[in-house]
Amino acid sequence: MSPSSLQHEPPPKRLGRLQGRTITLCVTGSIAAYKAALVARLLVKEGASVHVLLSDAARHFVGPMTFTGITGNPVHPGMFESNAGGESHVQLAARTDLLLIVPATADVIARVAGGRADDAIGATVLCSRCPIMIVPAMHPNMWSHPATQRNMKLLEDSLRVERVGPVHGEVASGESGEGRMADPEQVLARVLRCLSRGDLHGKHIVVTAGPTVEDIDPVRFIANRSSGKMGFALAERAALRGAQVTLIAGPVSLTTPFNVNRIDVRSAVGMRNAVWQAMRPDLSGADALIMAAAVADYRPTETRATKVKKDAKTFTLELTRNPDILAEIGSARVRPDPLLVGFALETGTDDEVLSYAHRKLEEKRVDLVVANRAQESLDRDDNRVALVAAVAPSIDLWIHSSKAELAERILDWMAKCFAPQI
Ligand code: CTP
Repeated sequence: MSPSSLQHEPPPKRLGRLQGRTITLCVTGSIAAYKAALVARLLVKEGASVHVLLSDAARHFVGPMTFTGITGNPVHPGMFESNAGGESHVQLAARTDLLLIVPATADVIARVAGGRADDAIGATVLCSRCPIMIVPAMHPNMWSHPATQRNMKLLEDSLRVERVGPVHGEVASGESGEGRMADPEQVLARVLRCLSRGDLHGKHIVVTAGPTVEDIDPVRFIANRSSGKMGFALAERAALRGAQVTLIAGPVSLTTPFNVNRIDVRSAVGMRNAVWQAMRPDLSGADALIMAAAVADYRPTETRATKVKKDAKTFTLELTRNPDILAEIGSARVRPDPLLVGFALETGTDDEVLSYAHRKLEEKRVDLVVANRAQESLDRDDNRVALVAAVAPSIDLWIHSSKAELAERILDWMAKCFAPQI
């Protein structure tokens, strides 16, 4: 045995779970600002490249030297102190994987909700297209104030923004209440969860959303109360998790999520054509189809070219069955590709809803049916659903959550199906 073979190899250096990730840490002026330094340290230990922006108020609580020492990167200058001609926020936003605001004061929440861009933090937020995580810290009275709650809700509804905390506990004044910043370890856990989500990379997912509208004449139509929020949440979250997303939307007033290819349609027949075009006739065009749209089952047999006049005492409208898009794709598919997810929108009891969901699962030959009740779903930001799958684990009963969170649950299930089986 040669002497060299006796020498021990140094233990392999553990690759941090955030290796290769760029995180922009925005620190604002709260007594909890010192905890942002602890967060920065945890992120750096996990291998992230951390770039810090300090608000003017934050500089009263913590200094740039602290963050430069921890991150190895200079703290970004203010808007008008930069060598990059005032454009450093554009460059920083472009290479950021996650924008973290820690601690977030009531003021920065209001400013971001209002789209303000008169300091480096506001401008970087506006330029960025990555997920944003907000970690509030303030006096409980400020947190519970309707203005703060309204601003925070506005941000959370945008789906790209995730909130961590605040938690119940003692705040700087010595009082107790909800306003204390979440622990740095909790922030790290949420960052890891958020950034480990490249799990749909390389997958093309087609999502349908919203109602379809069936015209009677140039001024009247048959439609339903679907807002499109569930389908849009699925599209946005899938894109954030790395998927290529085609969103086929009926008439809704929602903004197109970032990195999503949107195709607007009006009728069920229009939606069917767009779905087949995206999926291709041999279904090789996509890895999955999620039919979240509330497709009209019937359309007027004839759409009048001119407005119908109220000449007669009664008026009978003849309707013709629309094609069932999901069932068409289901029967054309040779399992297991592409993955098919349908929704079952019902009005019965929980048991009835589940039995309809099972029926749709079999009749439409799909892999997962998301069962929900109209009164708990339509035009709401939350929903209560059961996930009924064709294969084990076959059922996930009655999850009540925001549509964004439910979208994540459905995508978690899909990601497991895509993962190679060992
Ligand atoms: N669906 C579809 N094409 C239709 C009707 C529905 O692709 N013409 C899809 C929906 O997008 C949903 C699933 O089928 O994913 C179930 O839709 P739902 O309206 O709950 O049920 P229907 O199939 O229309 O049956 P019923 O109205 O009788 O409950």
